[in-house]
Amino acid sequence: MKYLTIALAKGRLAELSVEIFMKLGYDCAEMLTKTRKLIFTDEEKKVKFLLVKAGDVPTYVEYGAADIGIVGRDTLLEEGRNLYELLDLGFGKCRMCVCGPAEMREKLNTTSTMRVASKYPHIAADYFNAKKNMNIEIIKLGGSVELAPITGLSEVIVDIVESGKTLYENGLEVLEEVCPLSARLIVNRVSAKLERERINEIVQGIRGLL
Ligand code: PRP
Repeated sequence: MKYLTIALAKGRLAELSVEIFMKLGYDCAEMLTKTRKLIFTDEEKKVKFLLVKAGDVPTYVEYGAADIGIVGRDTLLEEGRNLYELLDLGFGKCRMCVCGPAEMREKLNTTSTMRVASKYPHIAADYFNAKKNMNIEIIKLGGSVELAPITGLSEVIVDIVESGKTLYENGLEVLEEVCPLSARLIVNRVSAKLERERINEIVQGIRGLL
């Protein structure tokens, strides 16, 4: 039997993703240790788990280097990859929001030019250009995006808000909500057919846990 390959996102979703597969009886507990290994094999079930950067999970799945994956909806929207989204896993719930200092709330509807910093340039462009019909300049950042409006790099940011603590501690607020987010199970288009039975078994198992 061929190995079924599962790509899991490092970071916020990693622990909950690994726990799902542990509950389904897969041998993958080693992924939760401090090991630097990136690939883990359950020989009995013929499954390989890959630990990859969240933004790379859809890439592995689109190209078939992984048959399935777990990743946040934010990454899926940003990457726009050609794959199937099978299941909303209901964890990792948060929101994509436009955030900034309170005084920007009104300006958001009156100015037509603005600089927006984000780790998610496509989501930000889509929201402002397509939905709000505003012509904005997007500045792509790698993290700590909240610094942008504080330092004058941009007027607002488009970023993930979970507890709201990061915004609060940096004197910023949610100004508008772009969309709700959560973890999703994604599947390669060819694997969906060739590995239908094994993938279905996993999907049914996960459904039973939700
Ligand atoms: C994310 C996001 C916010 C923060 C929101 O950053 O970009 O900064 O979490 O969470 P909260 O509402 O619960 O405070 P992350 O921790 O992934 O780090 P980063 O700044 O390096 O992107």
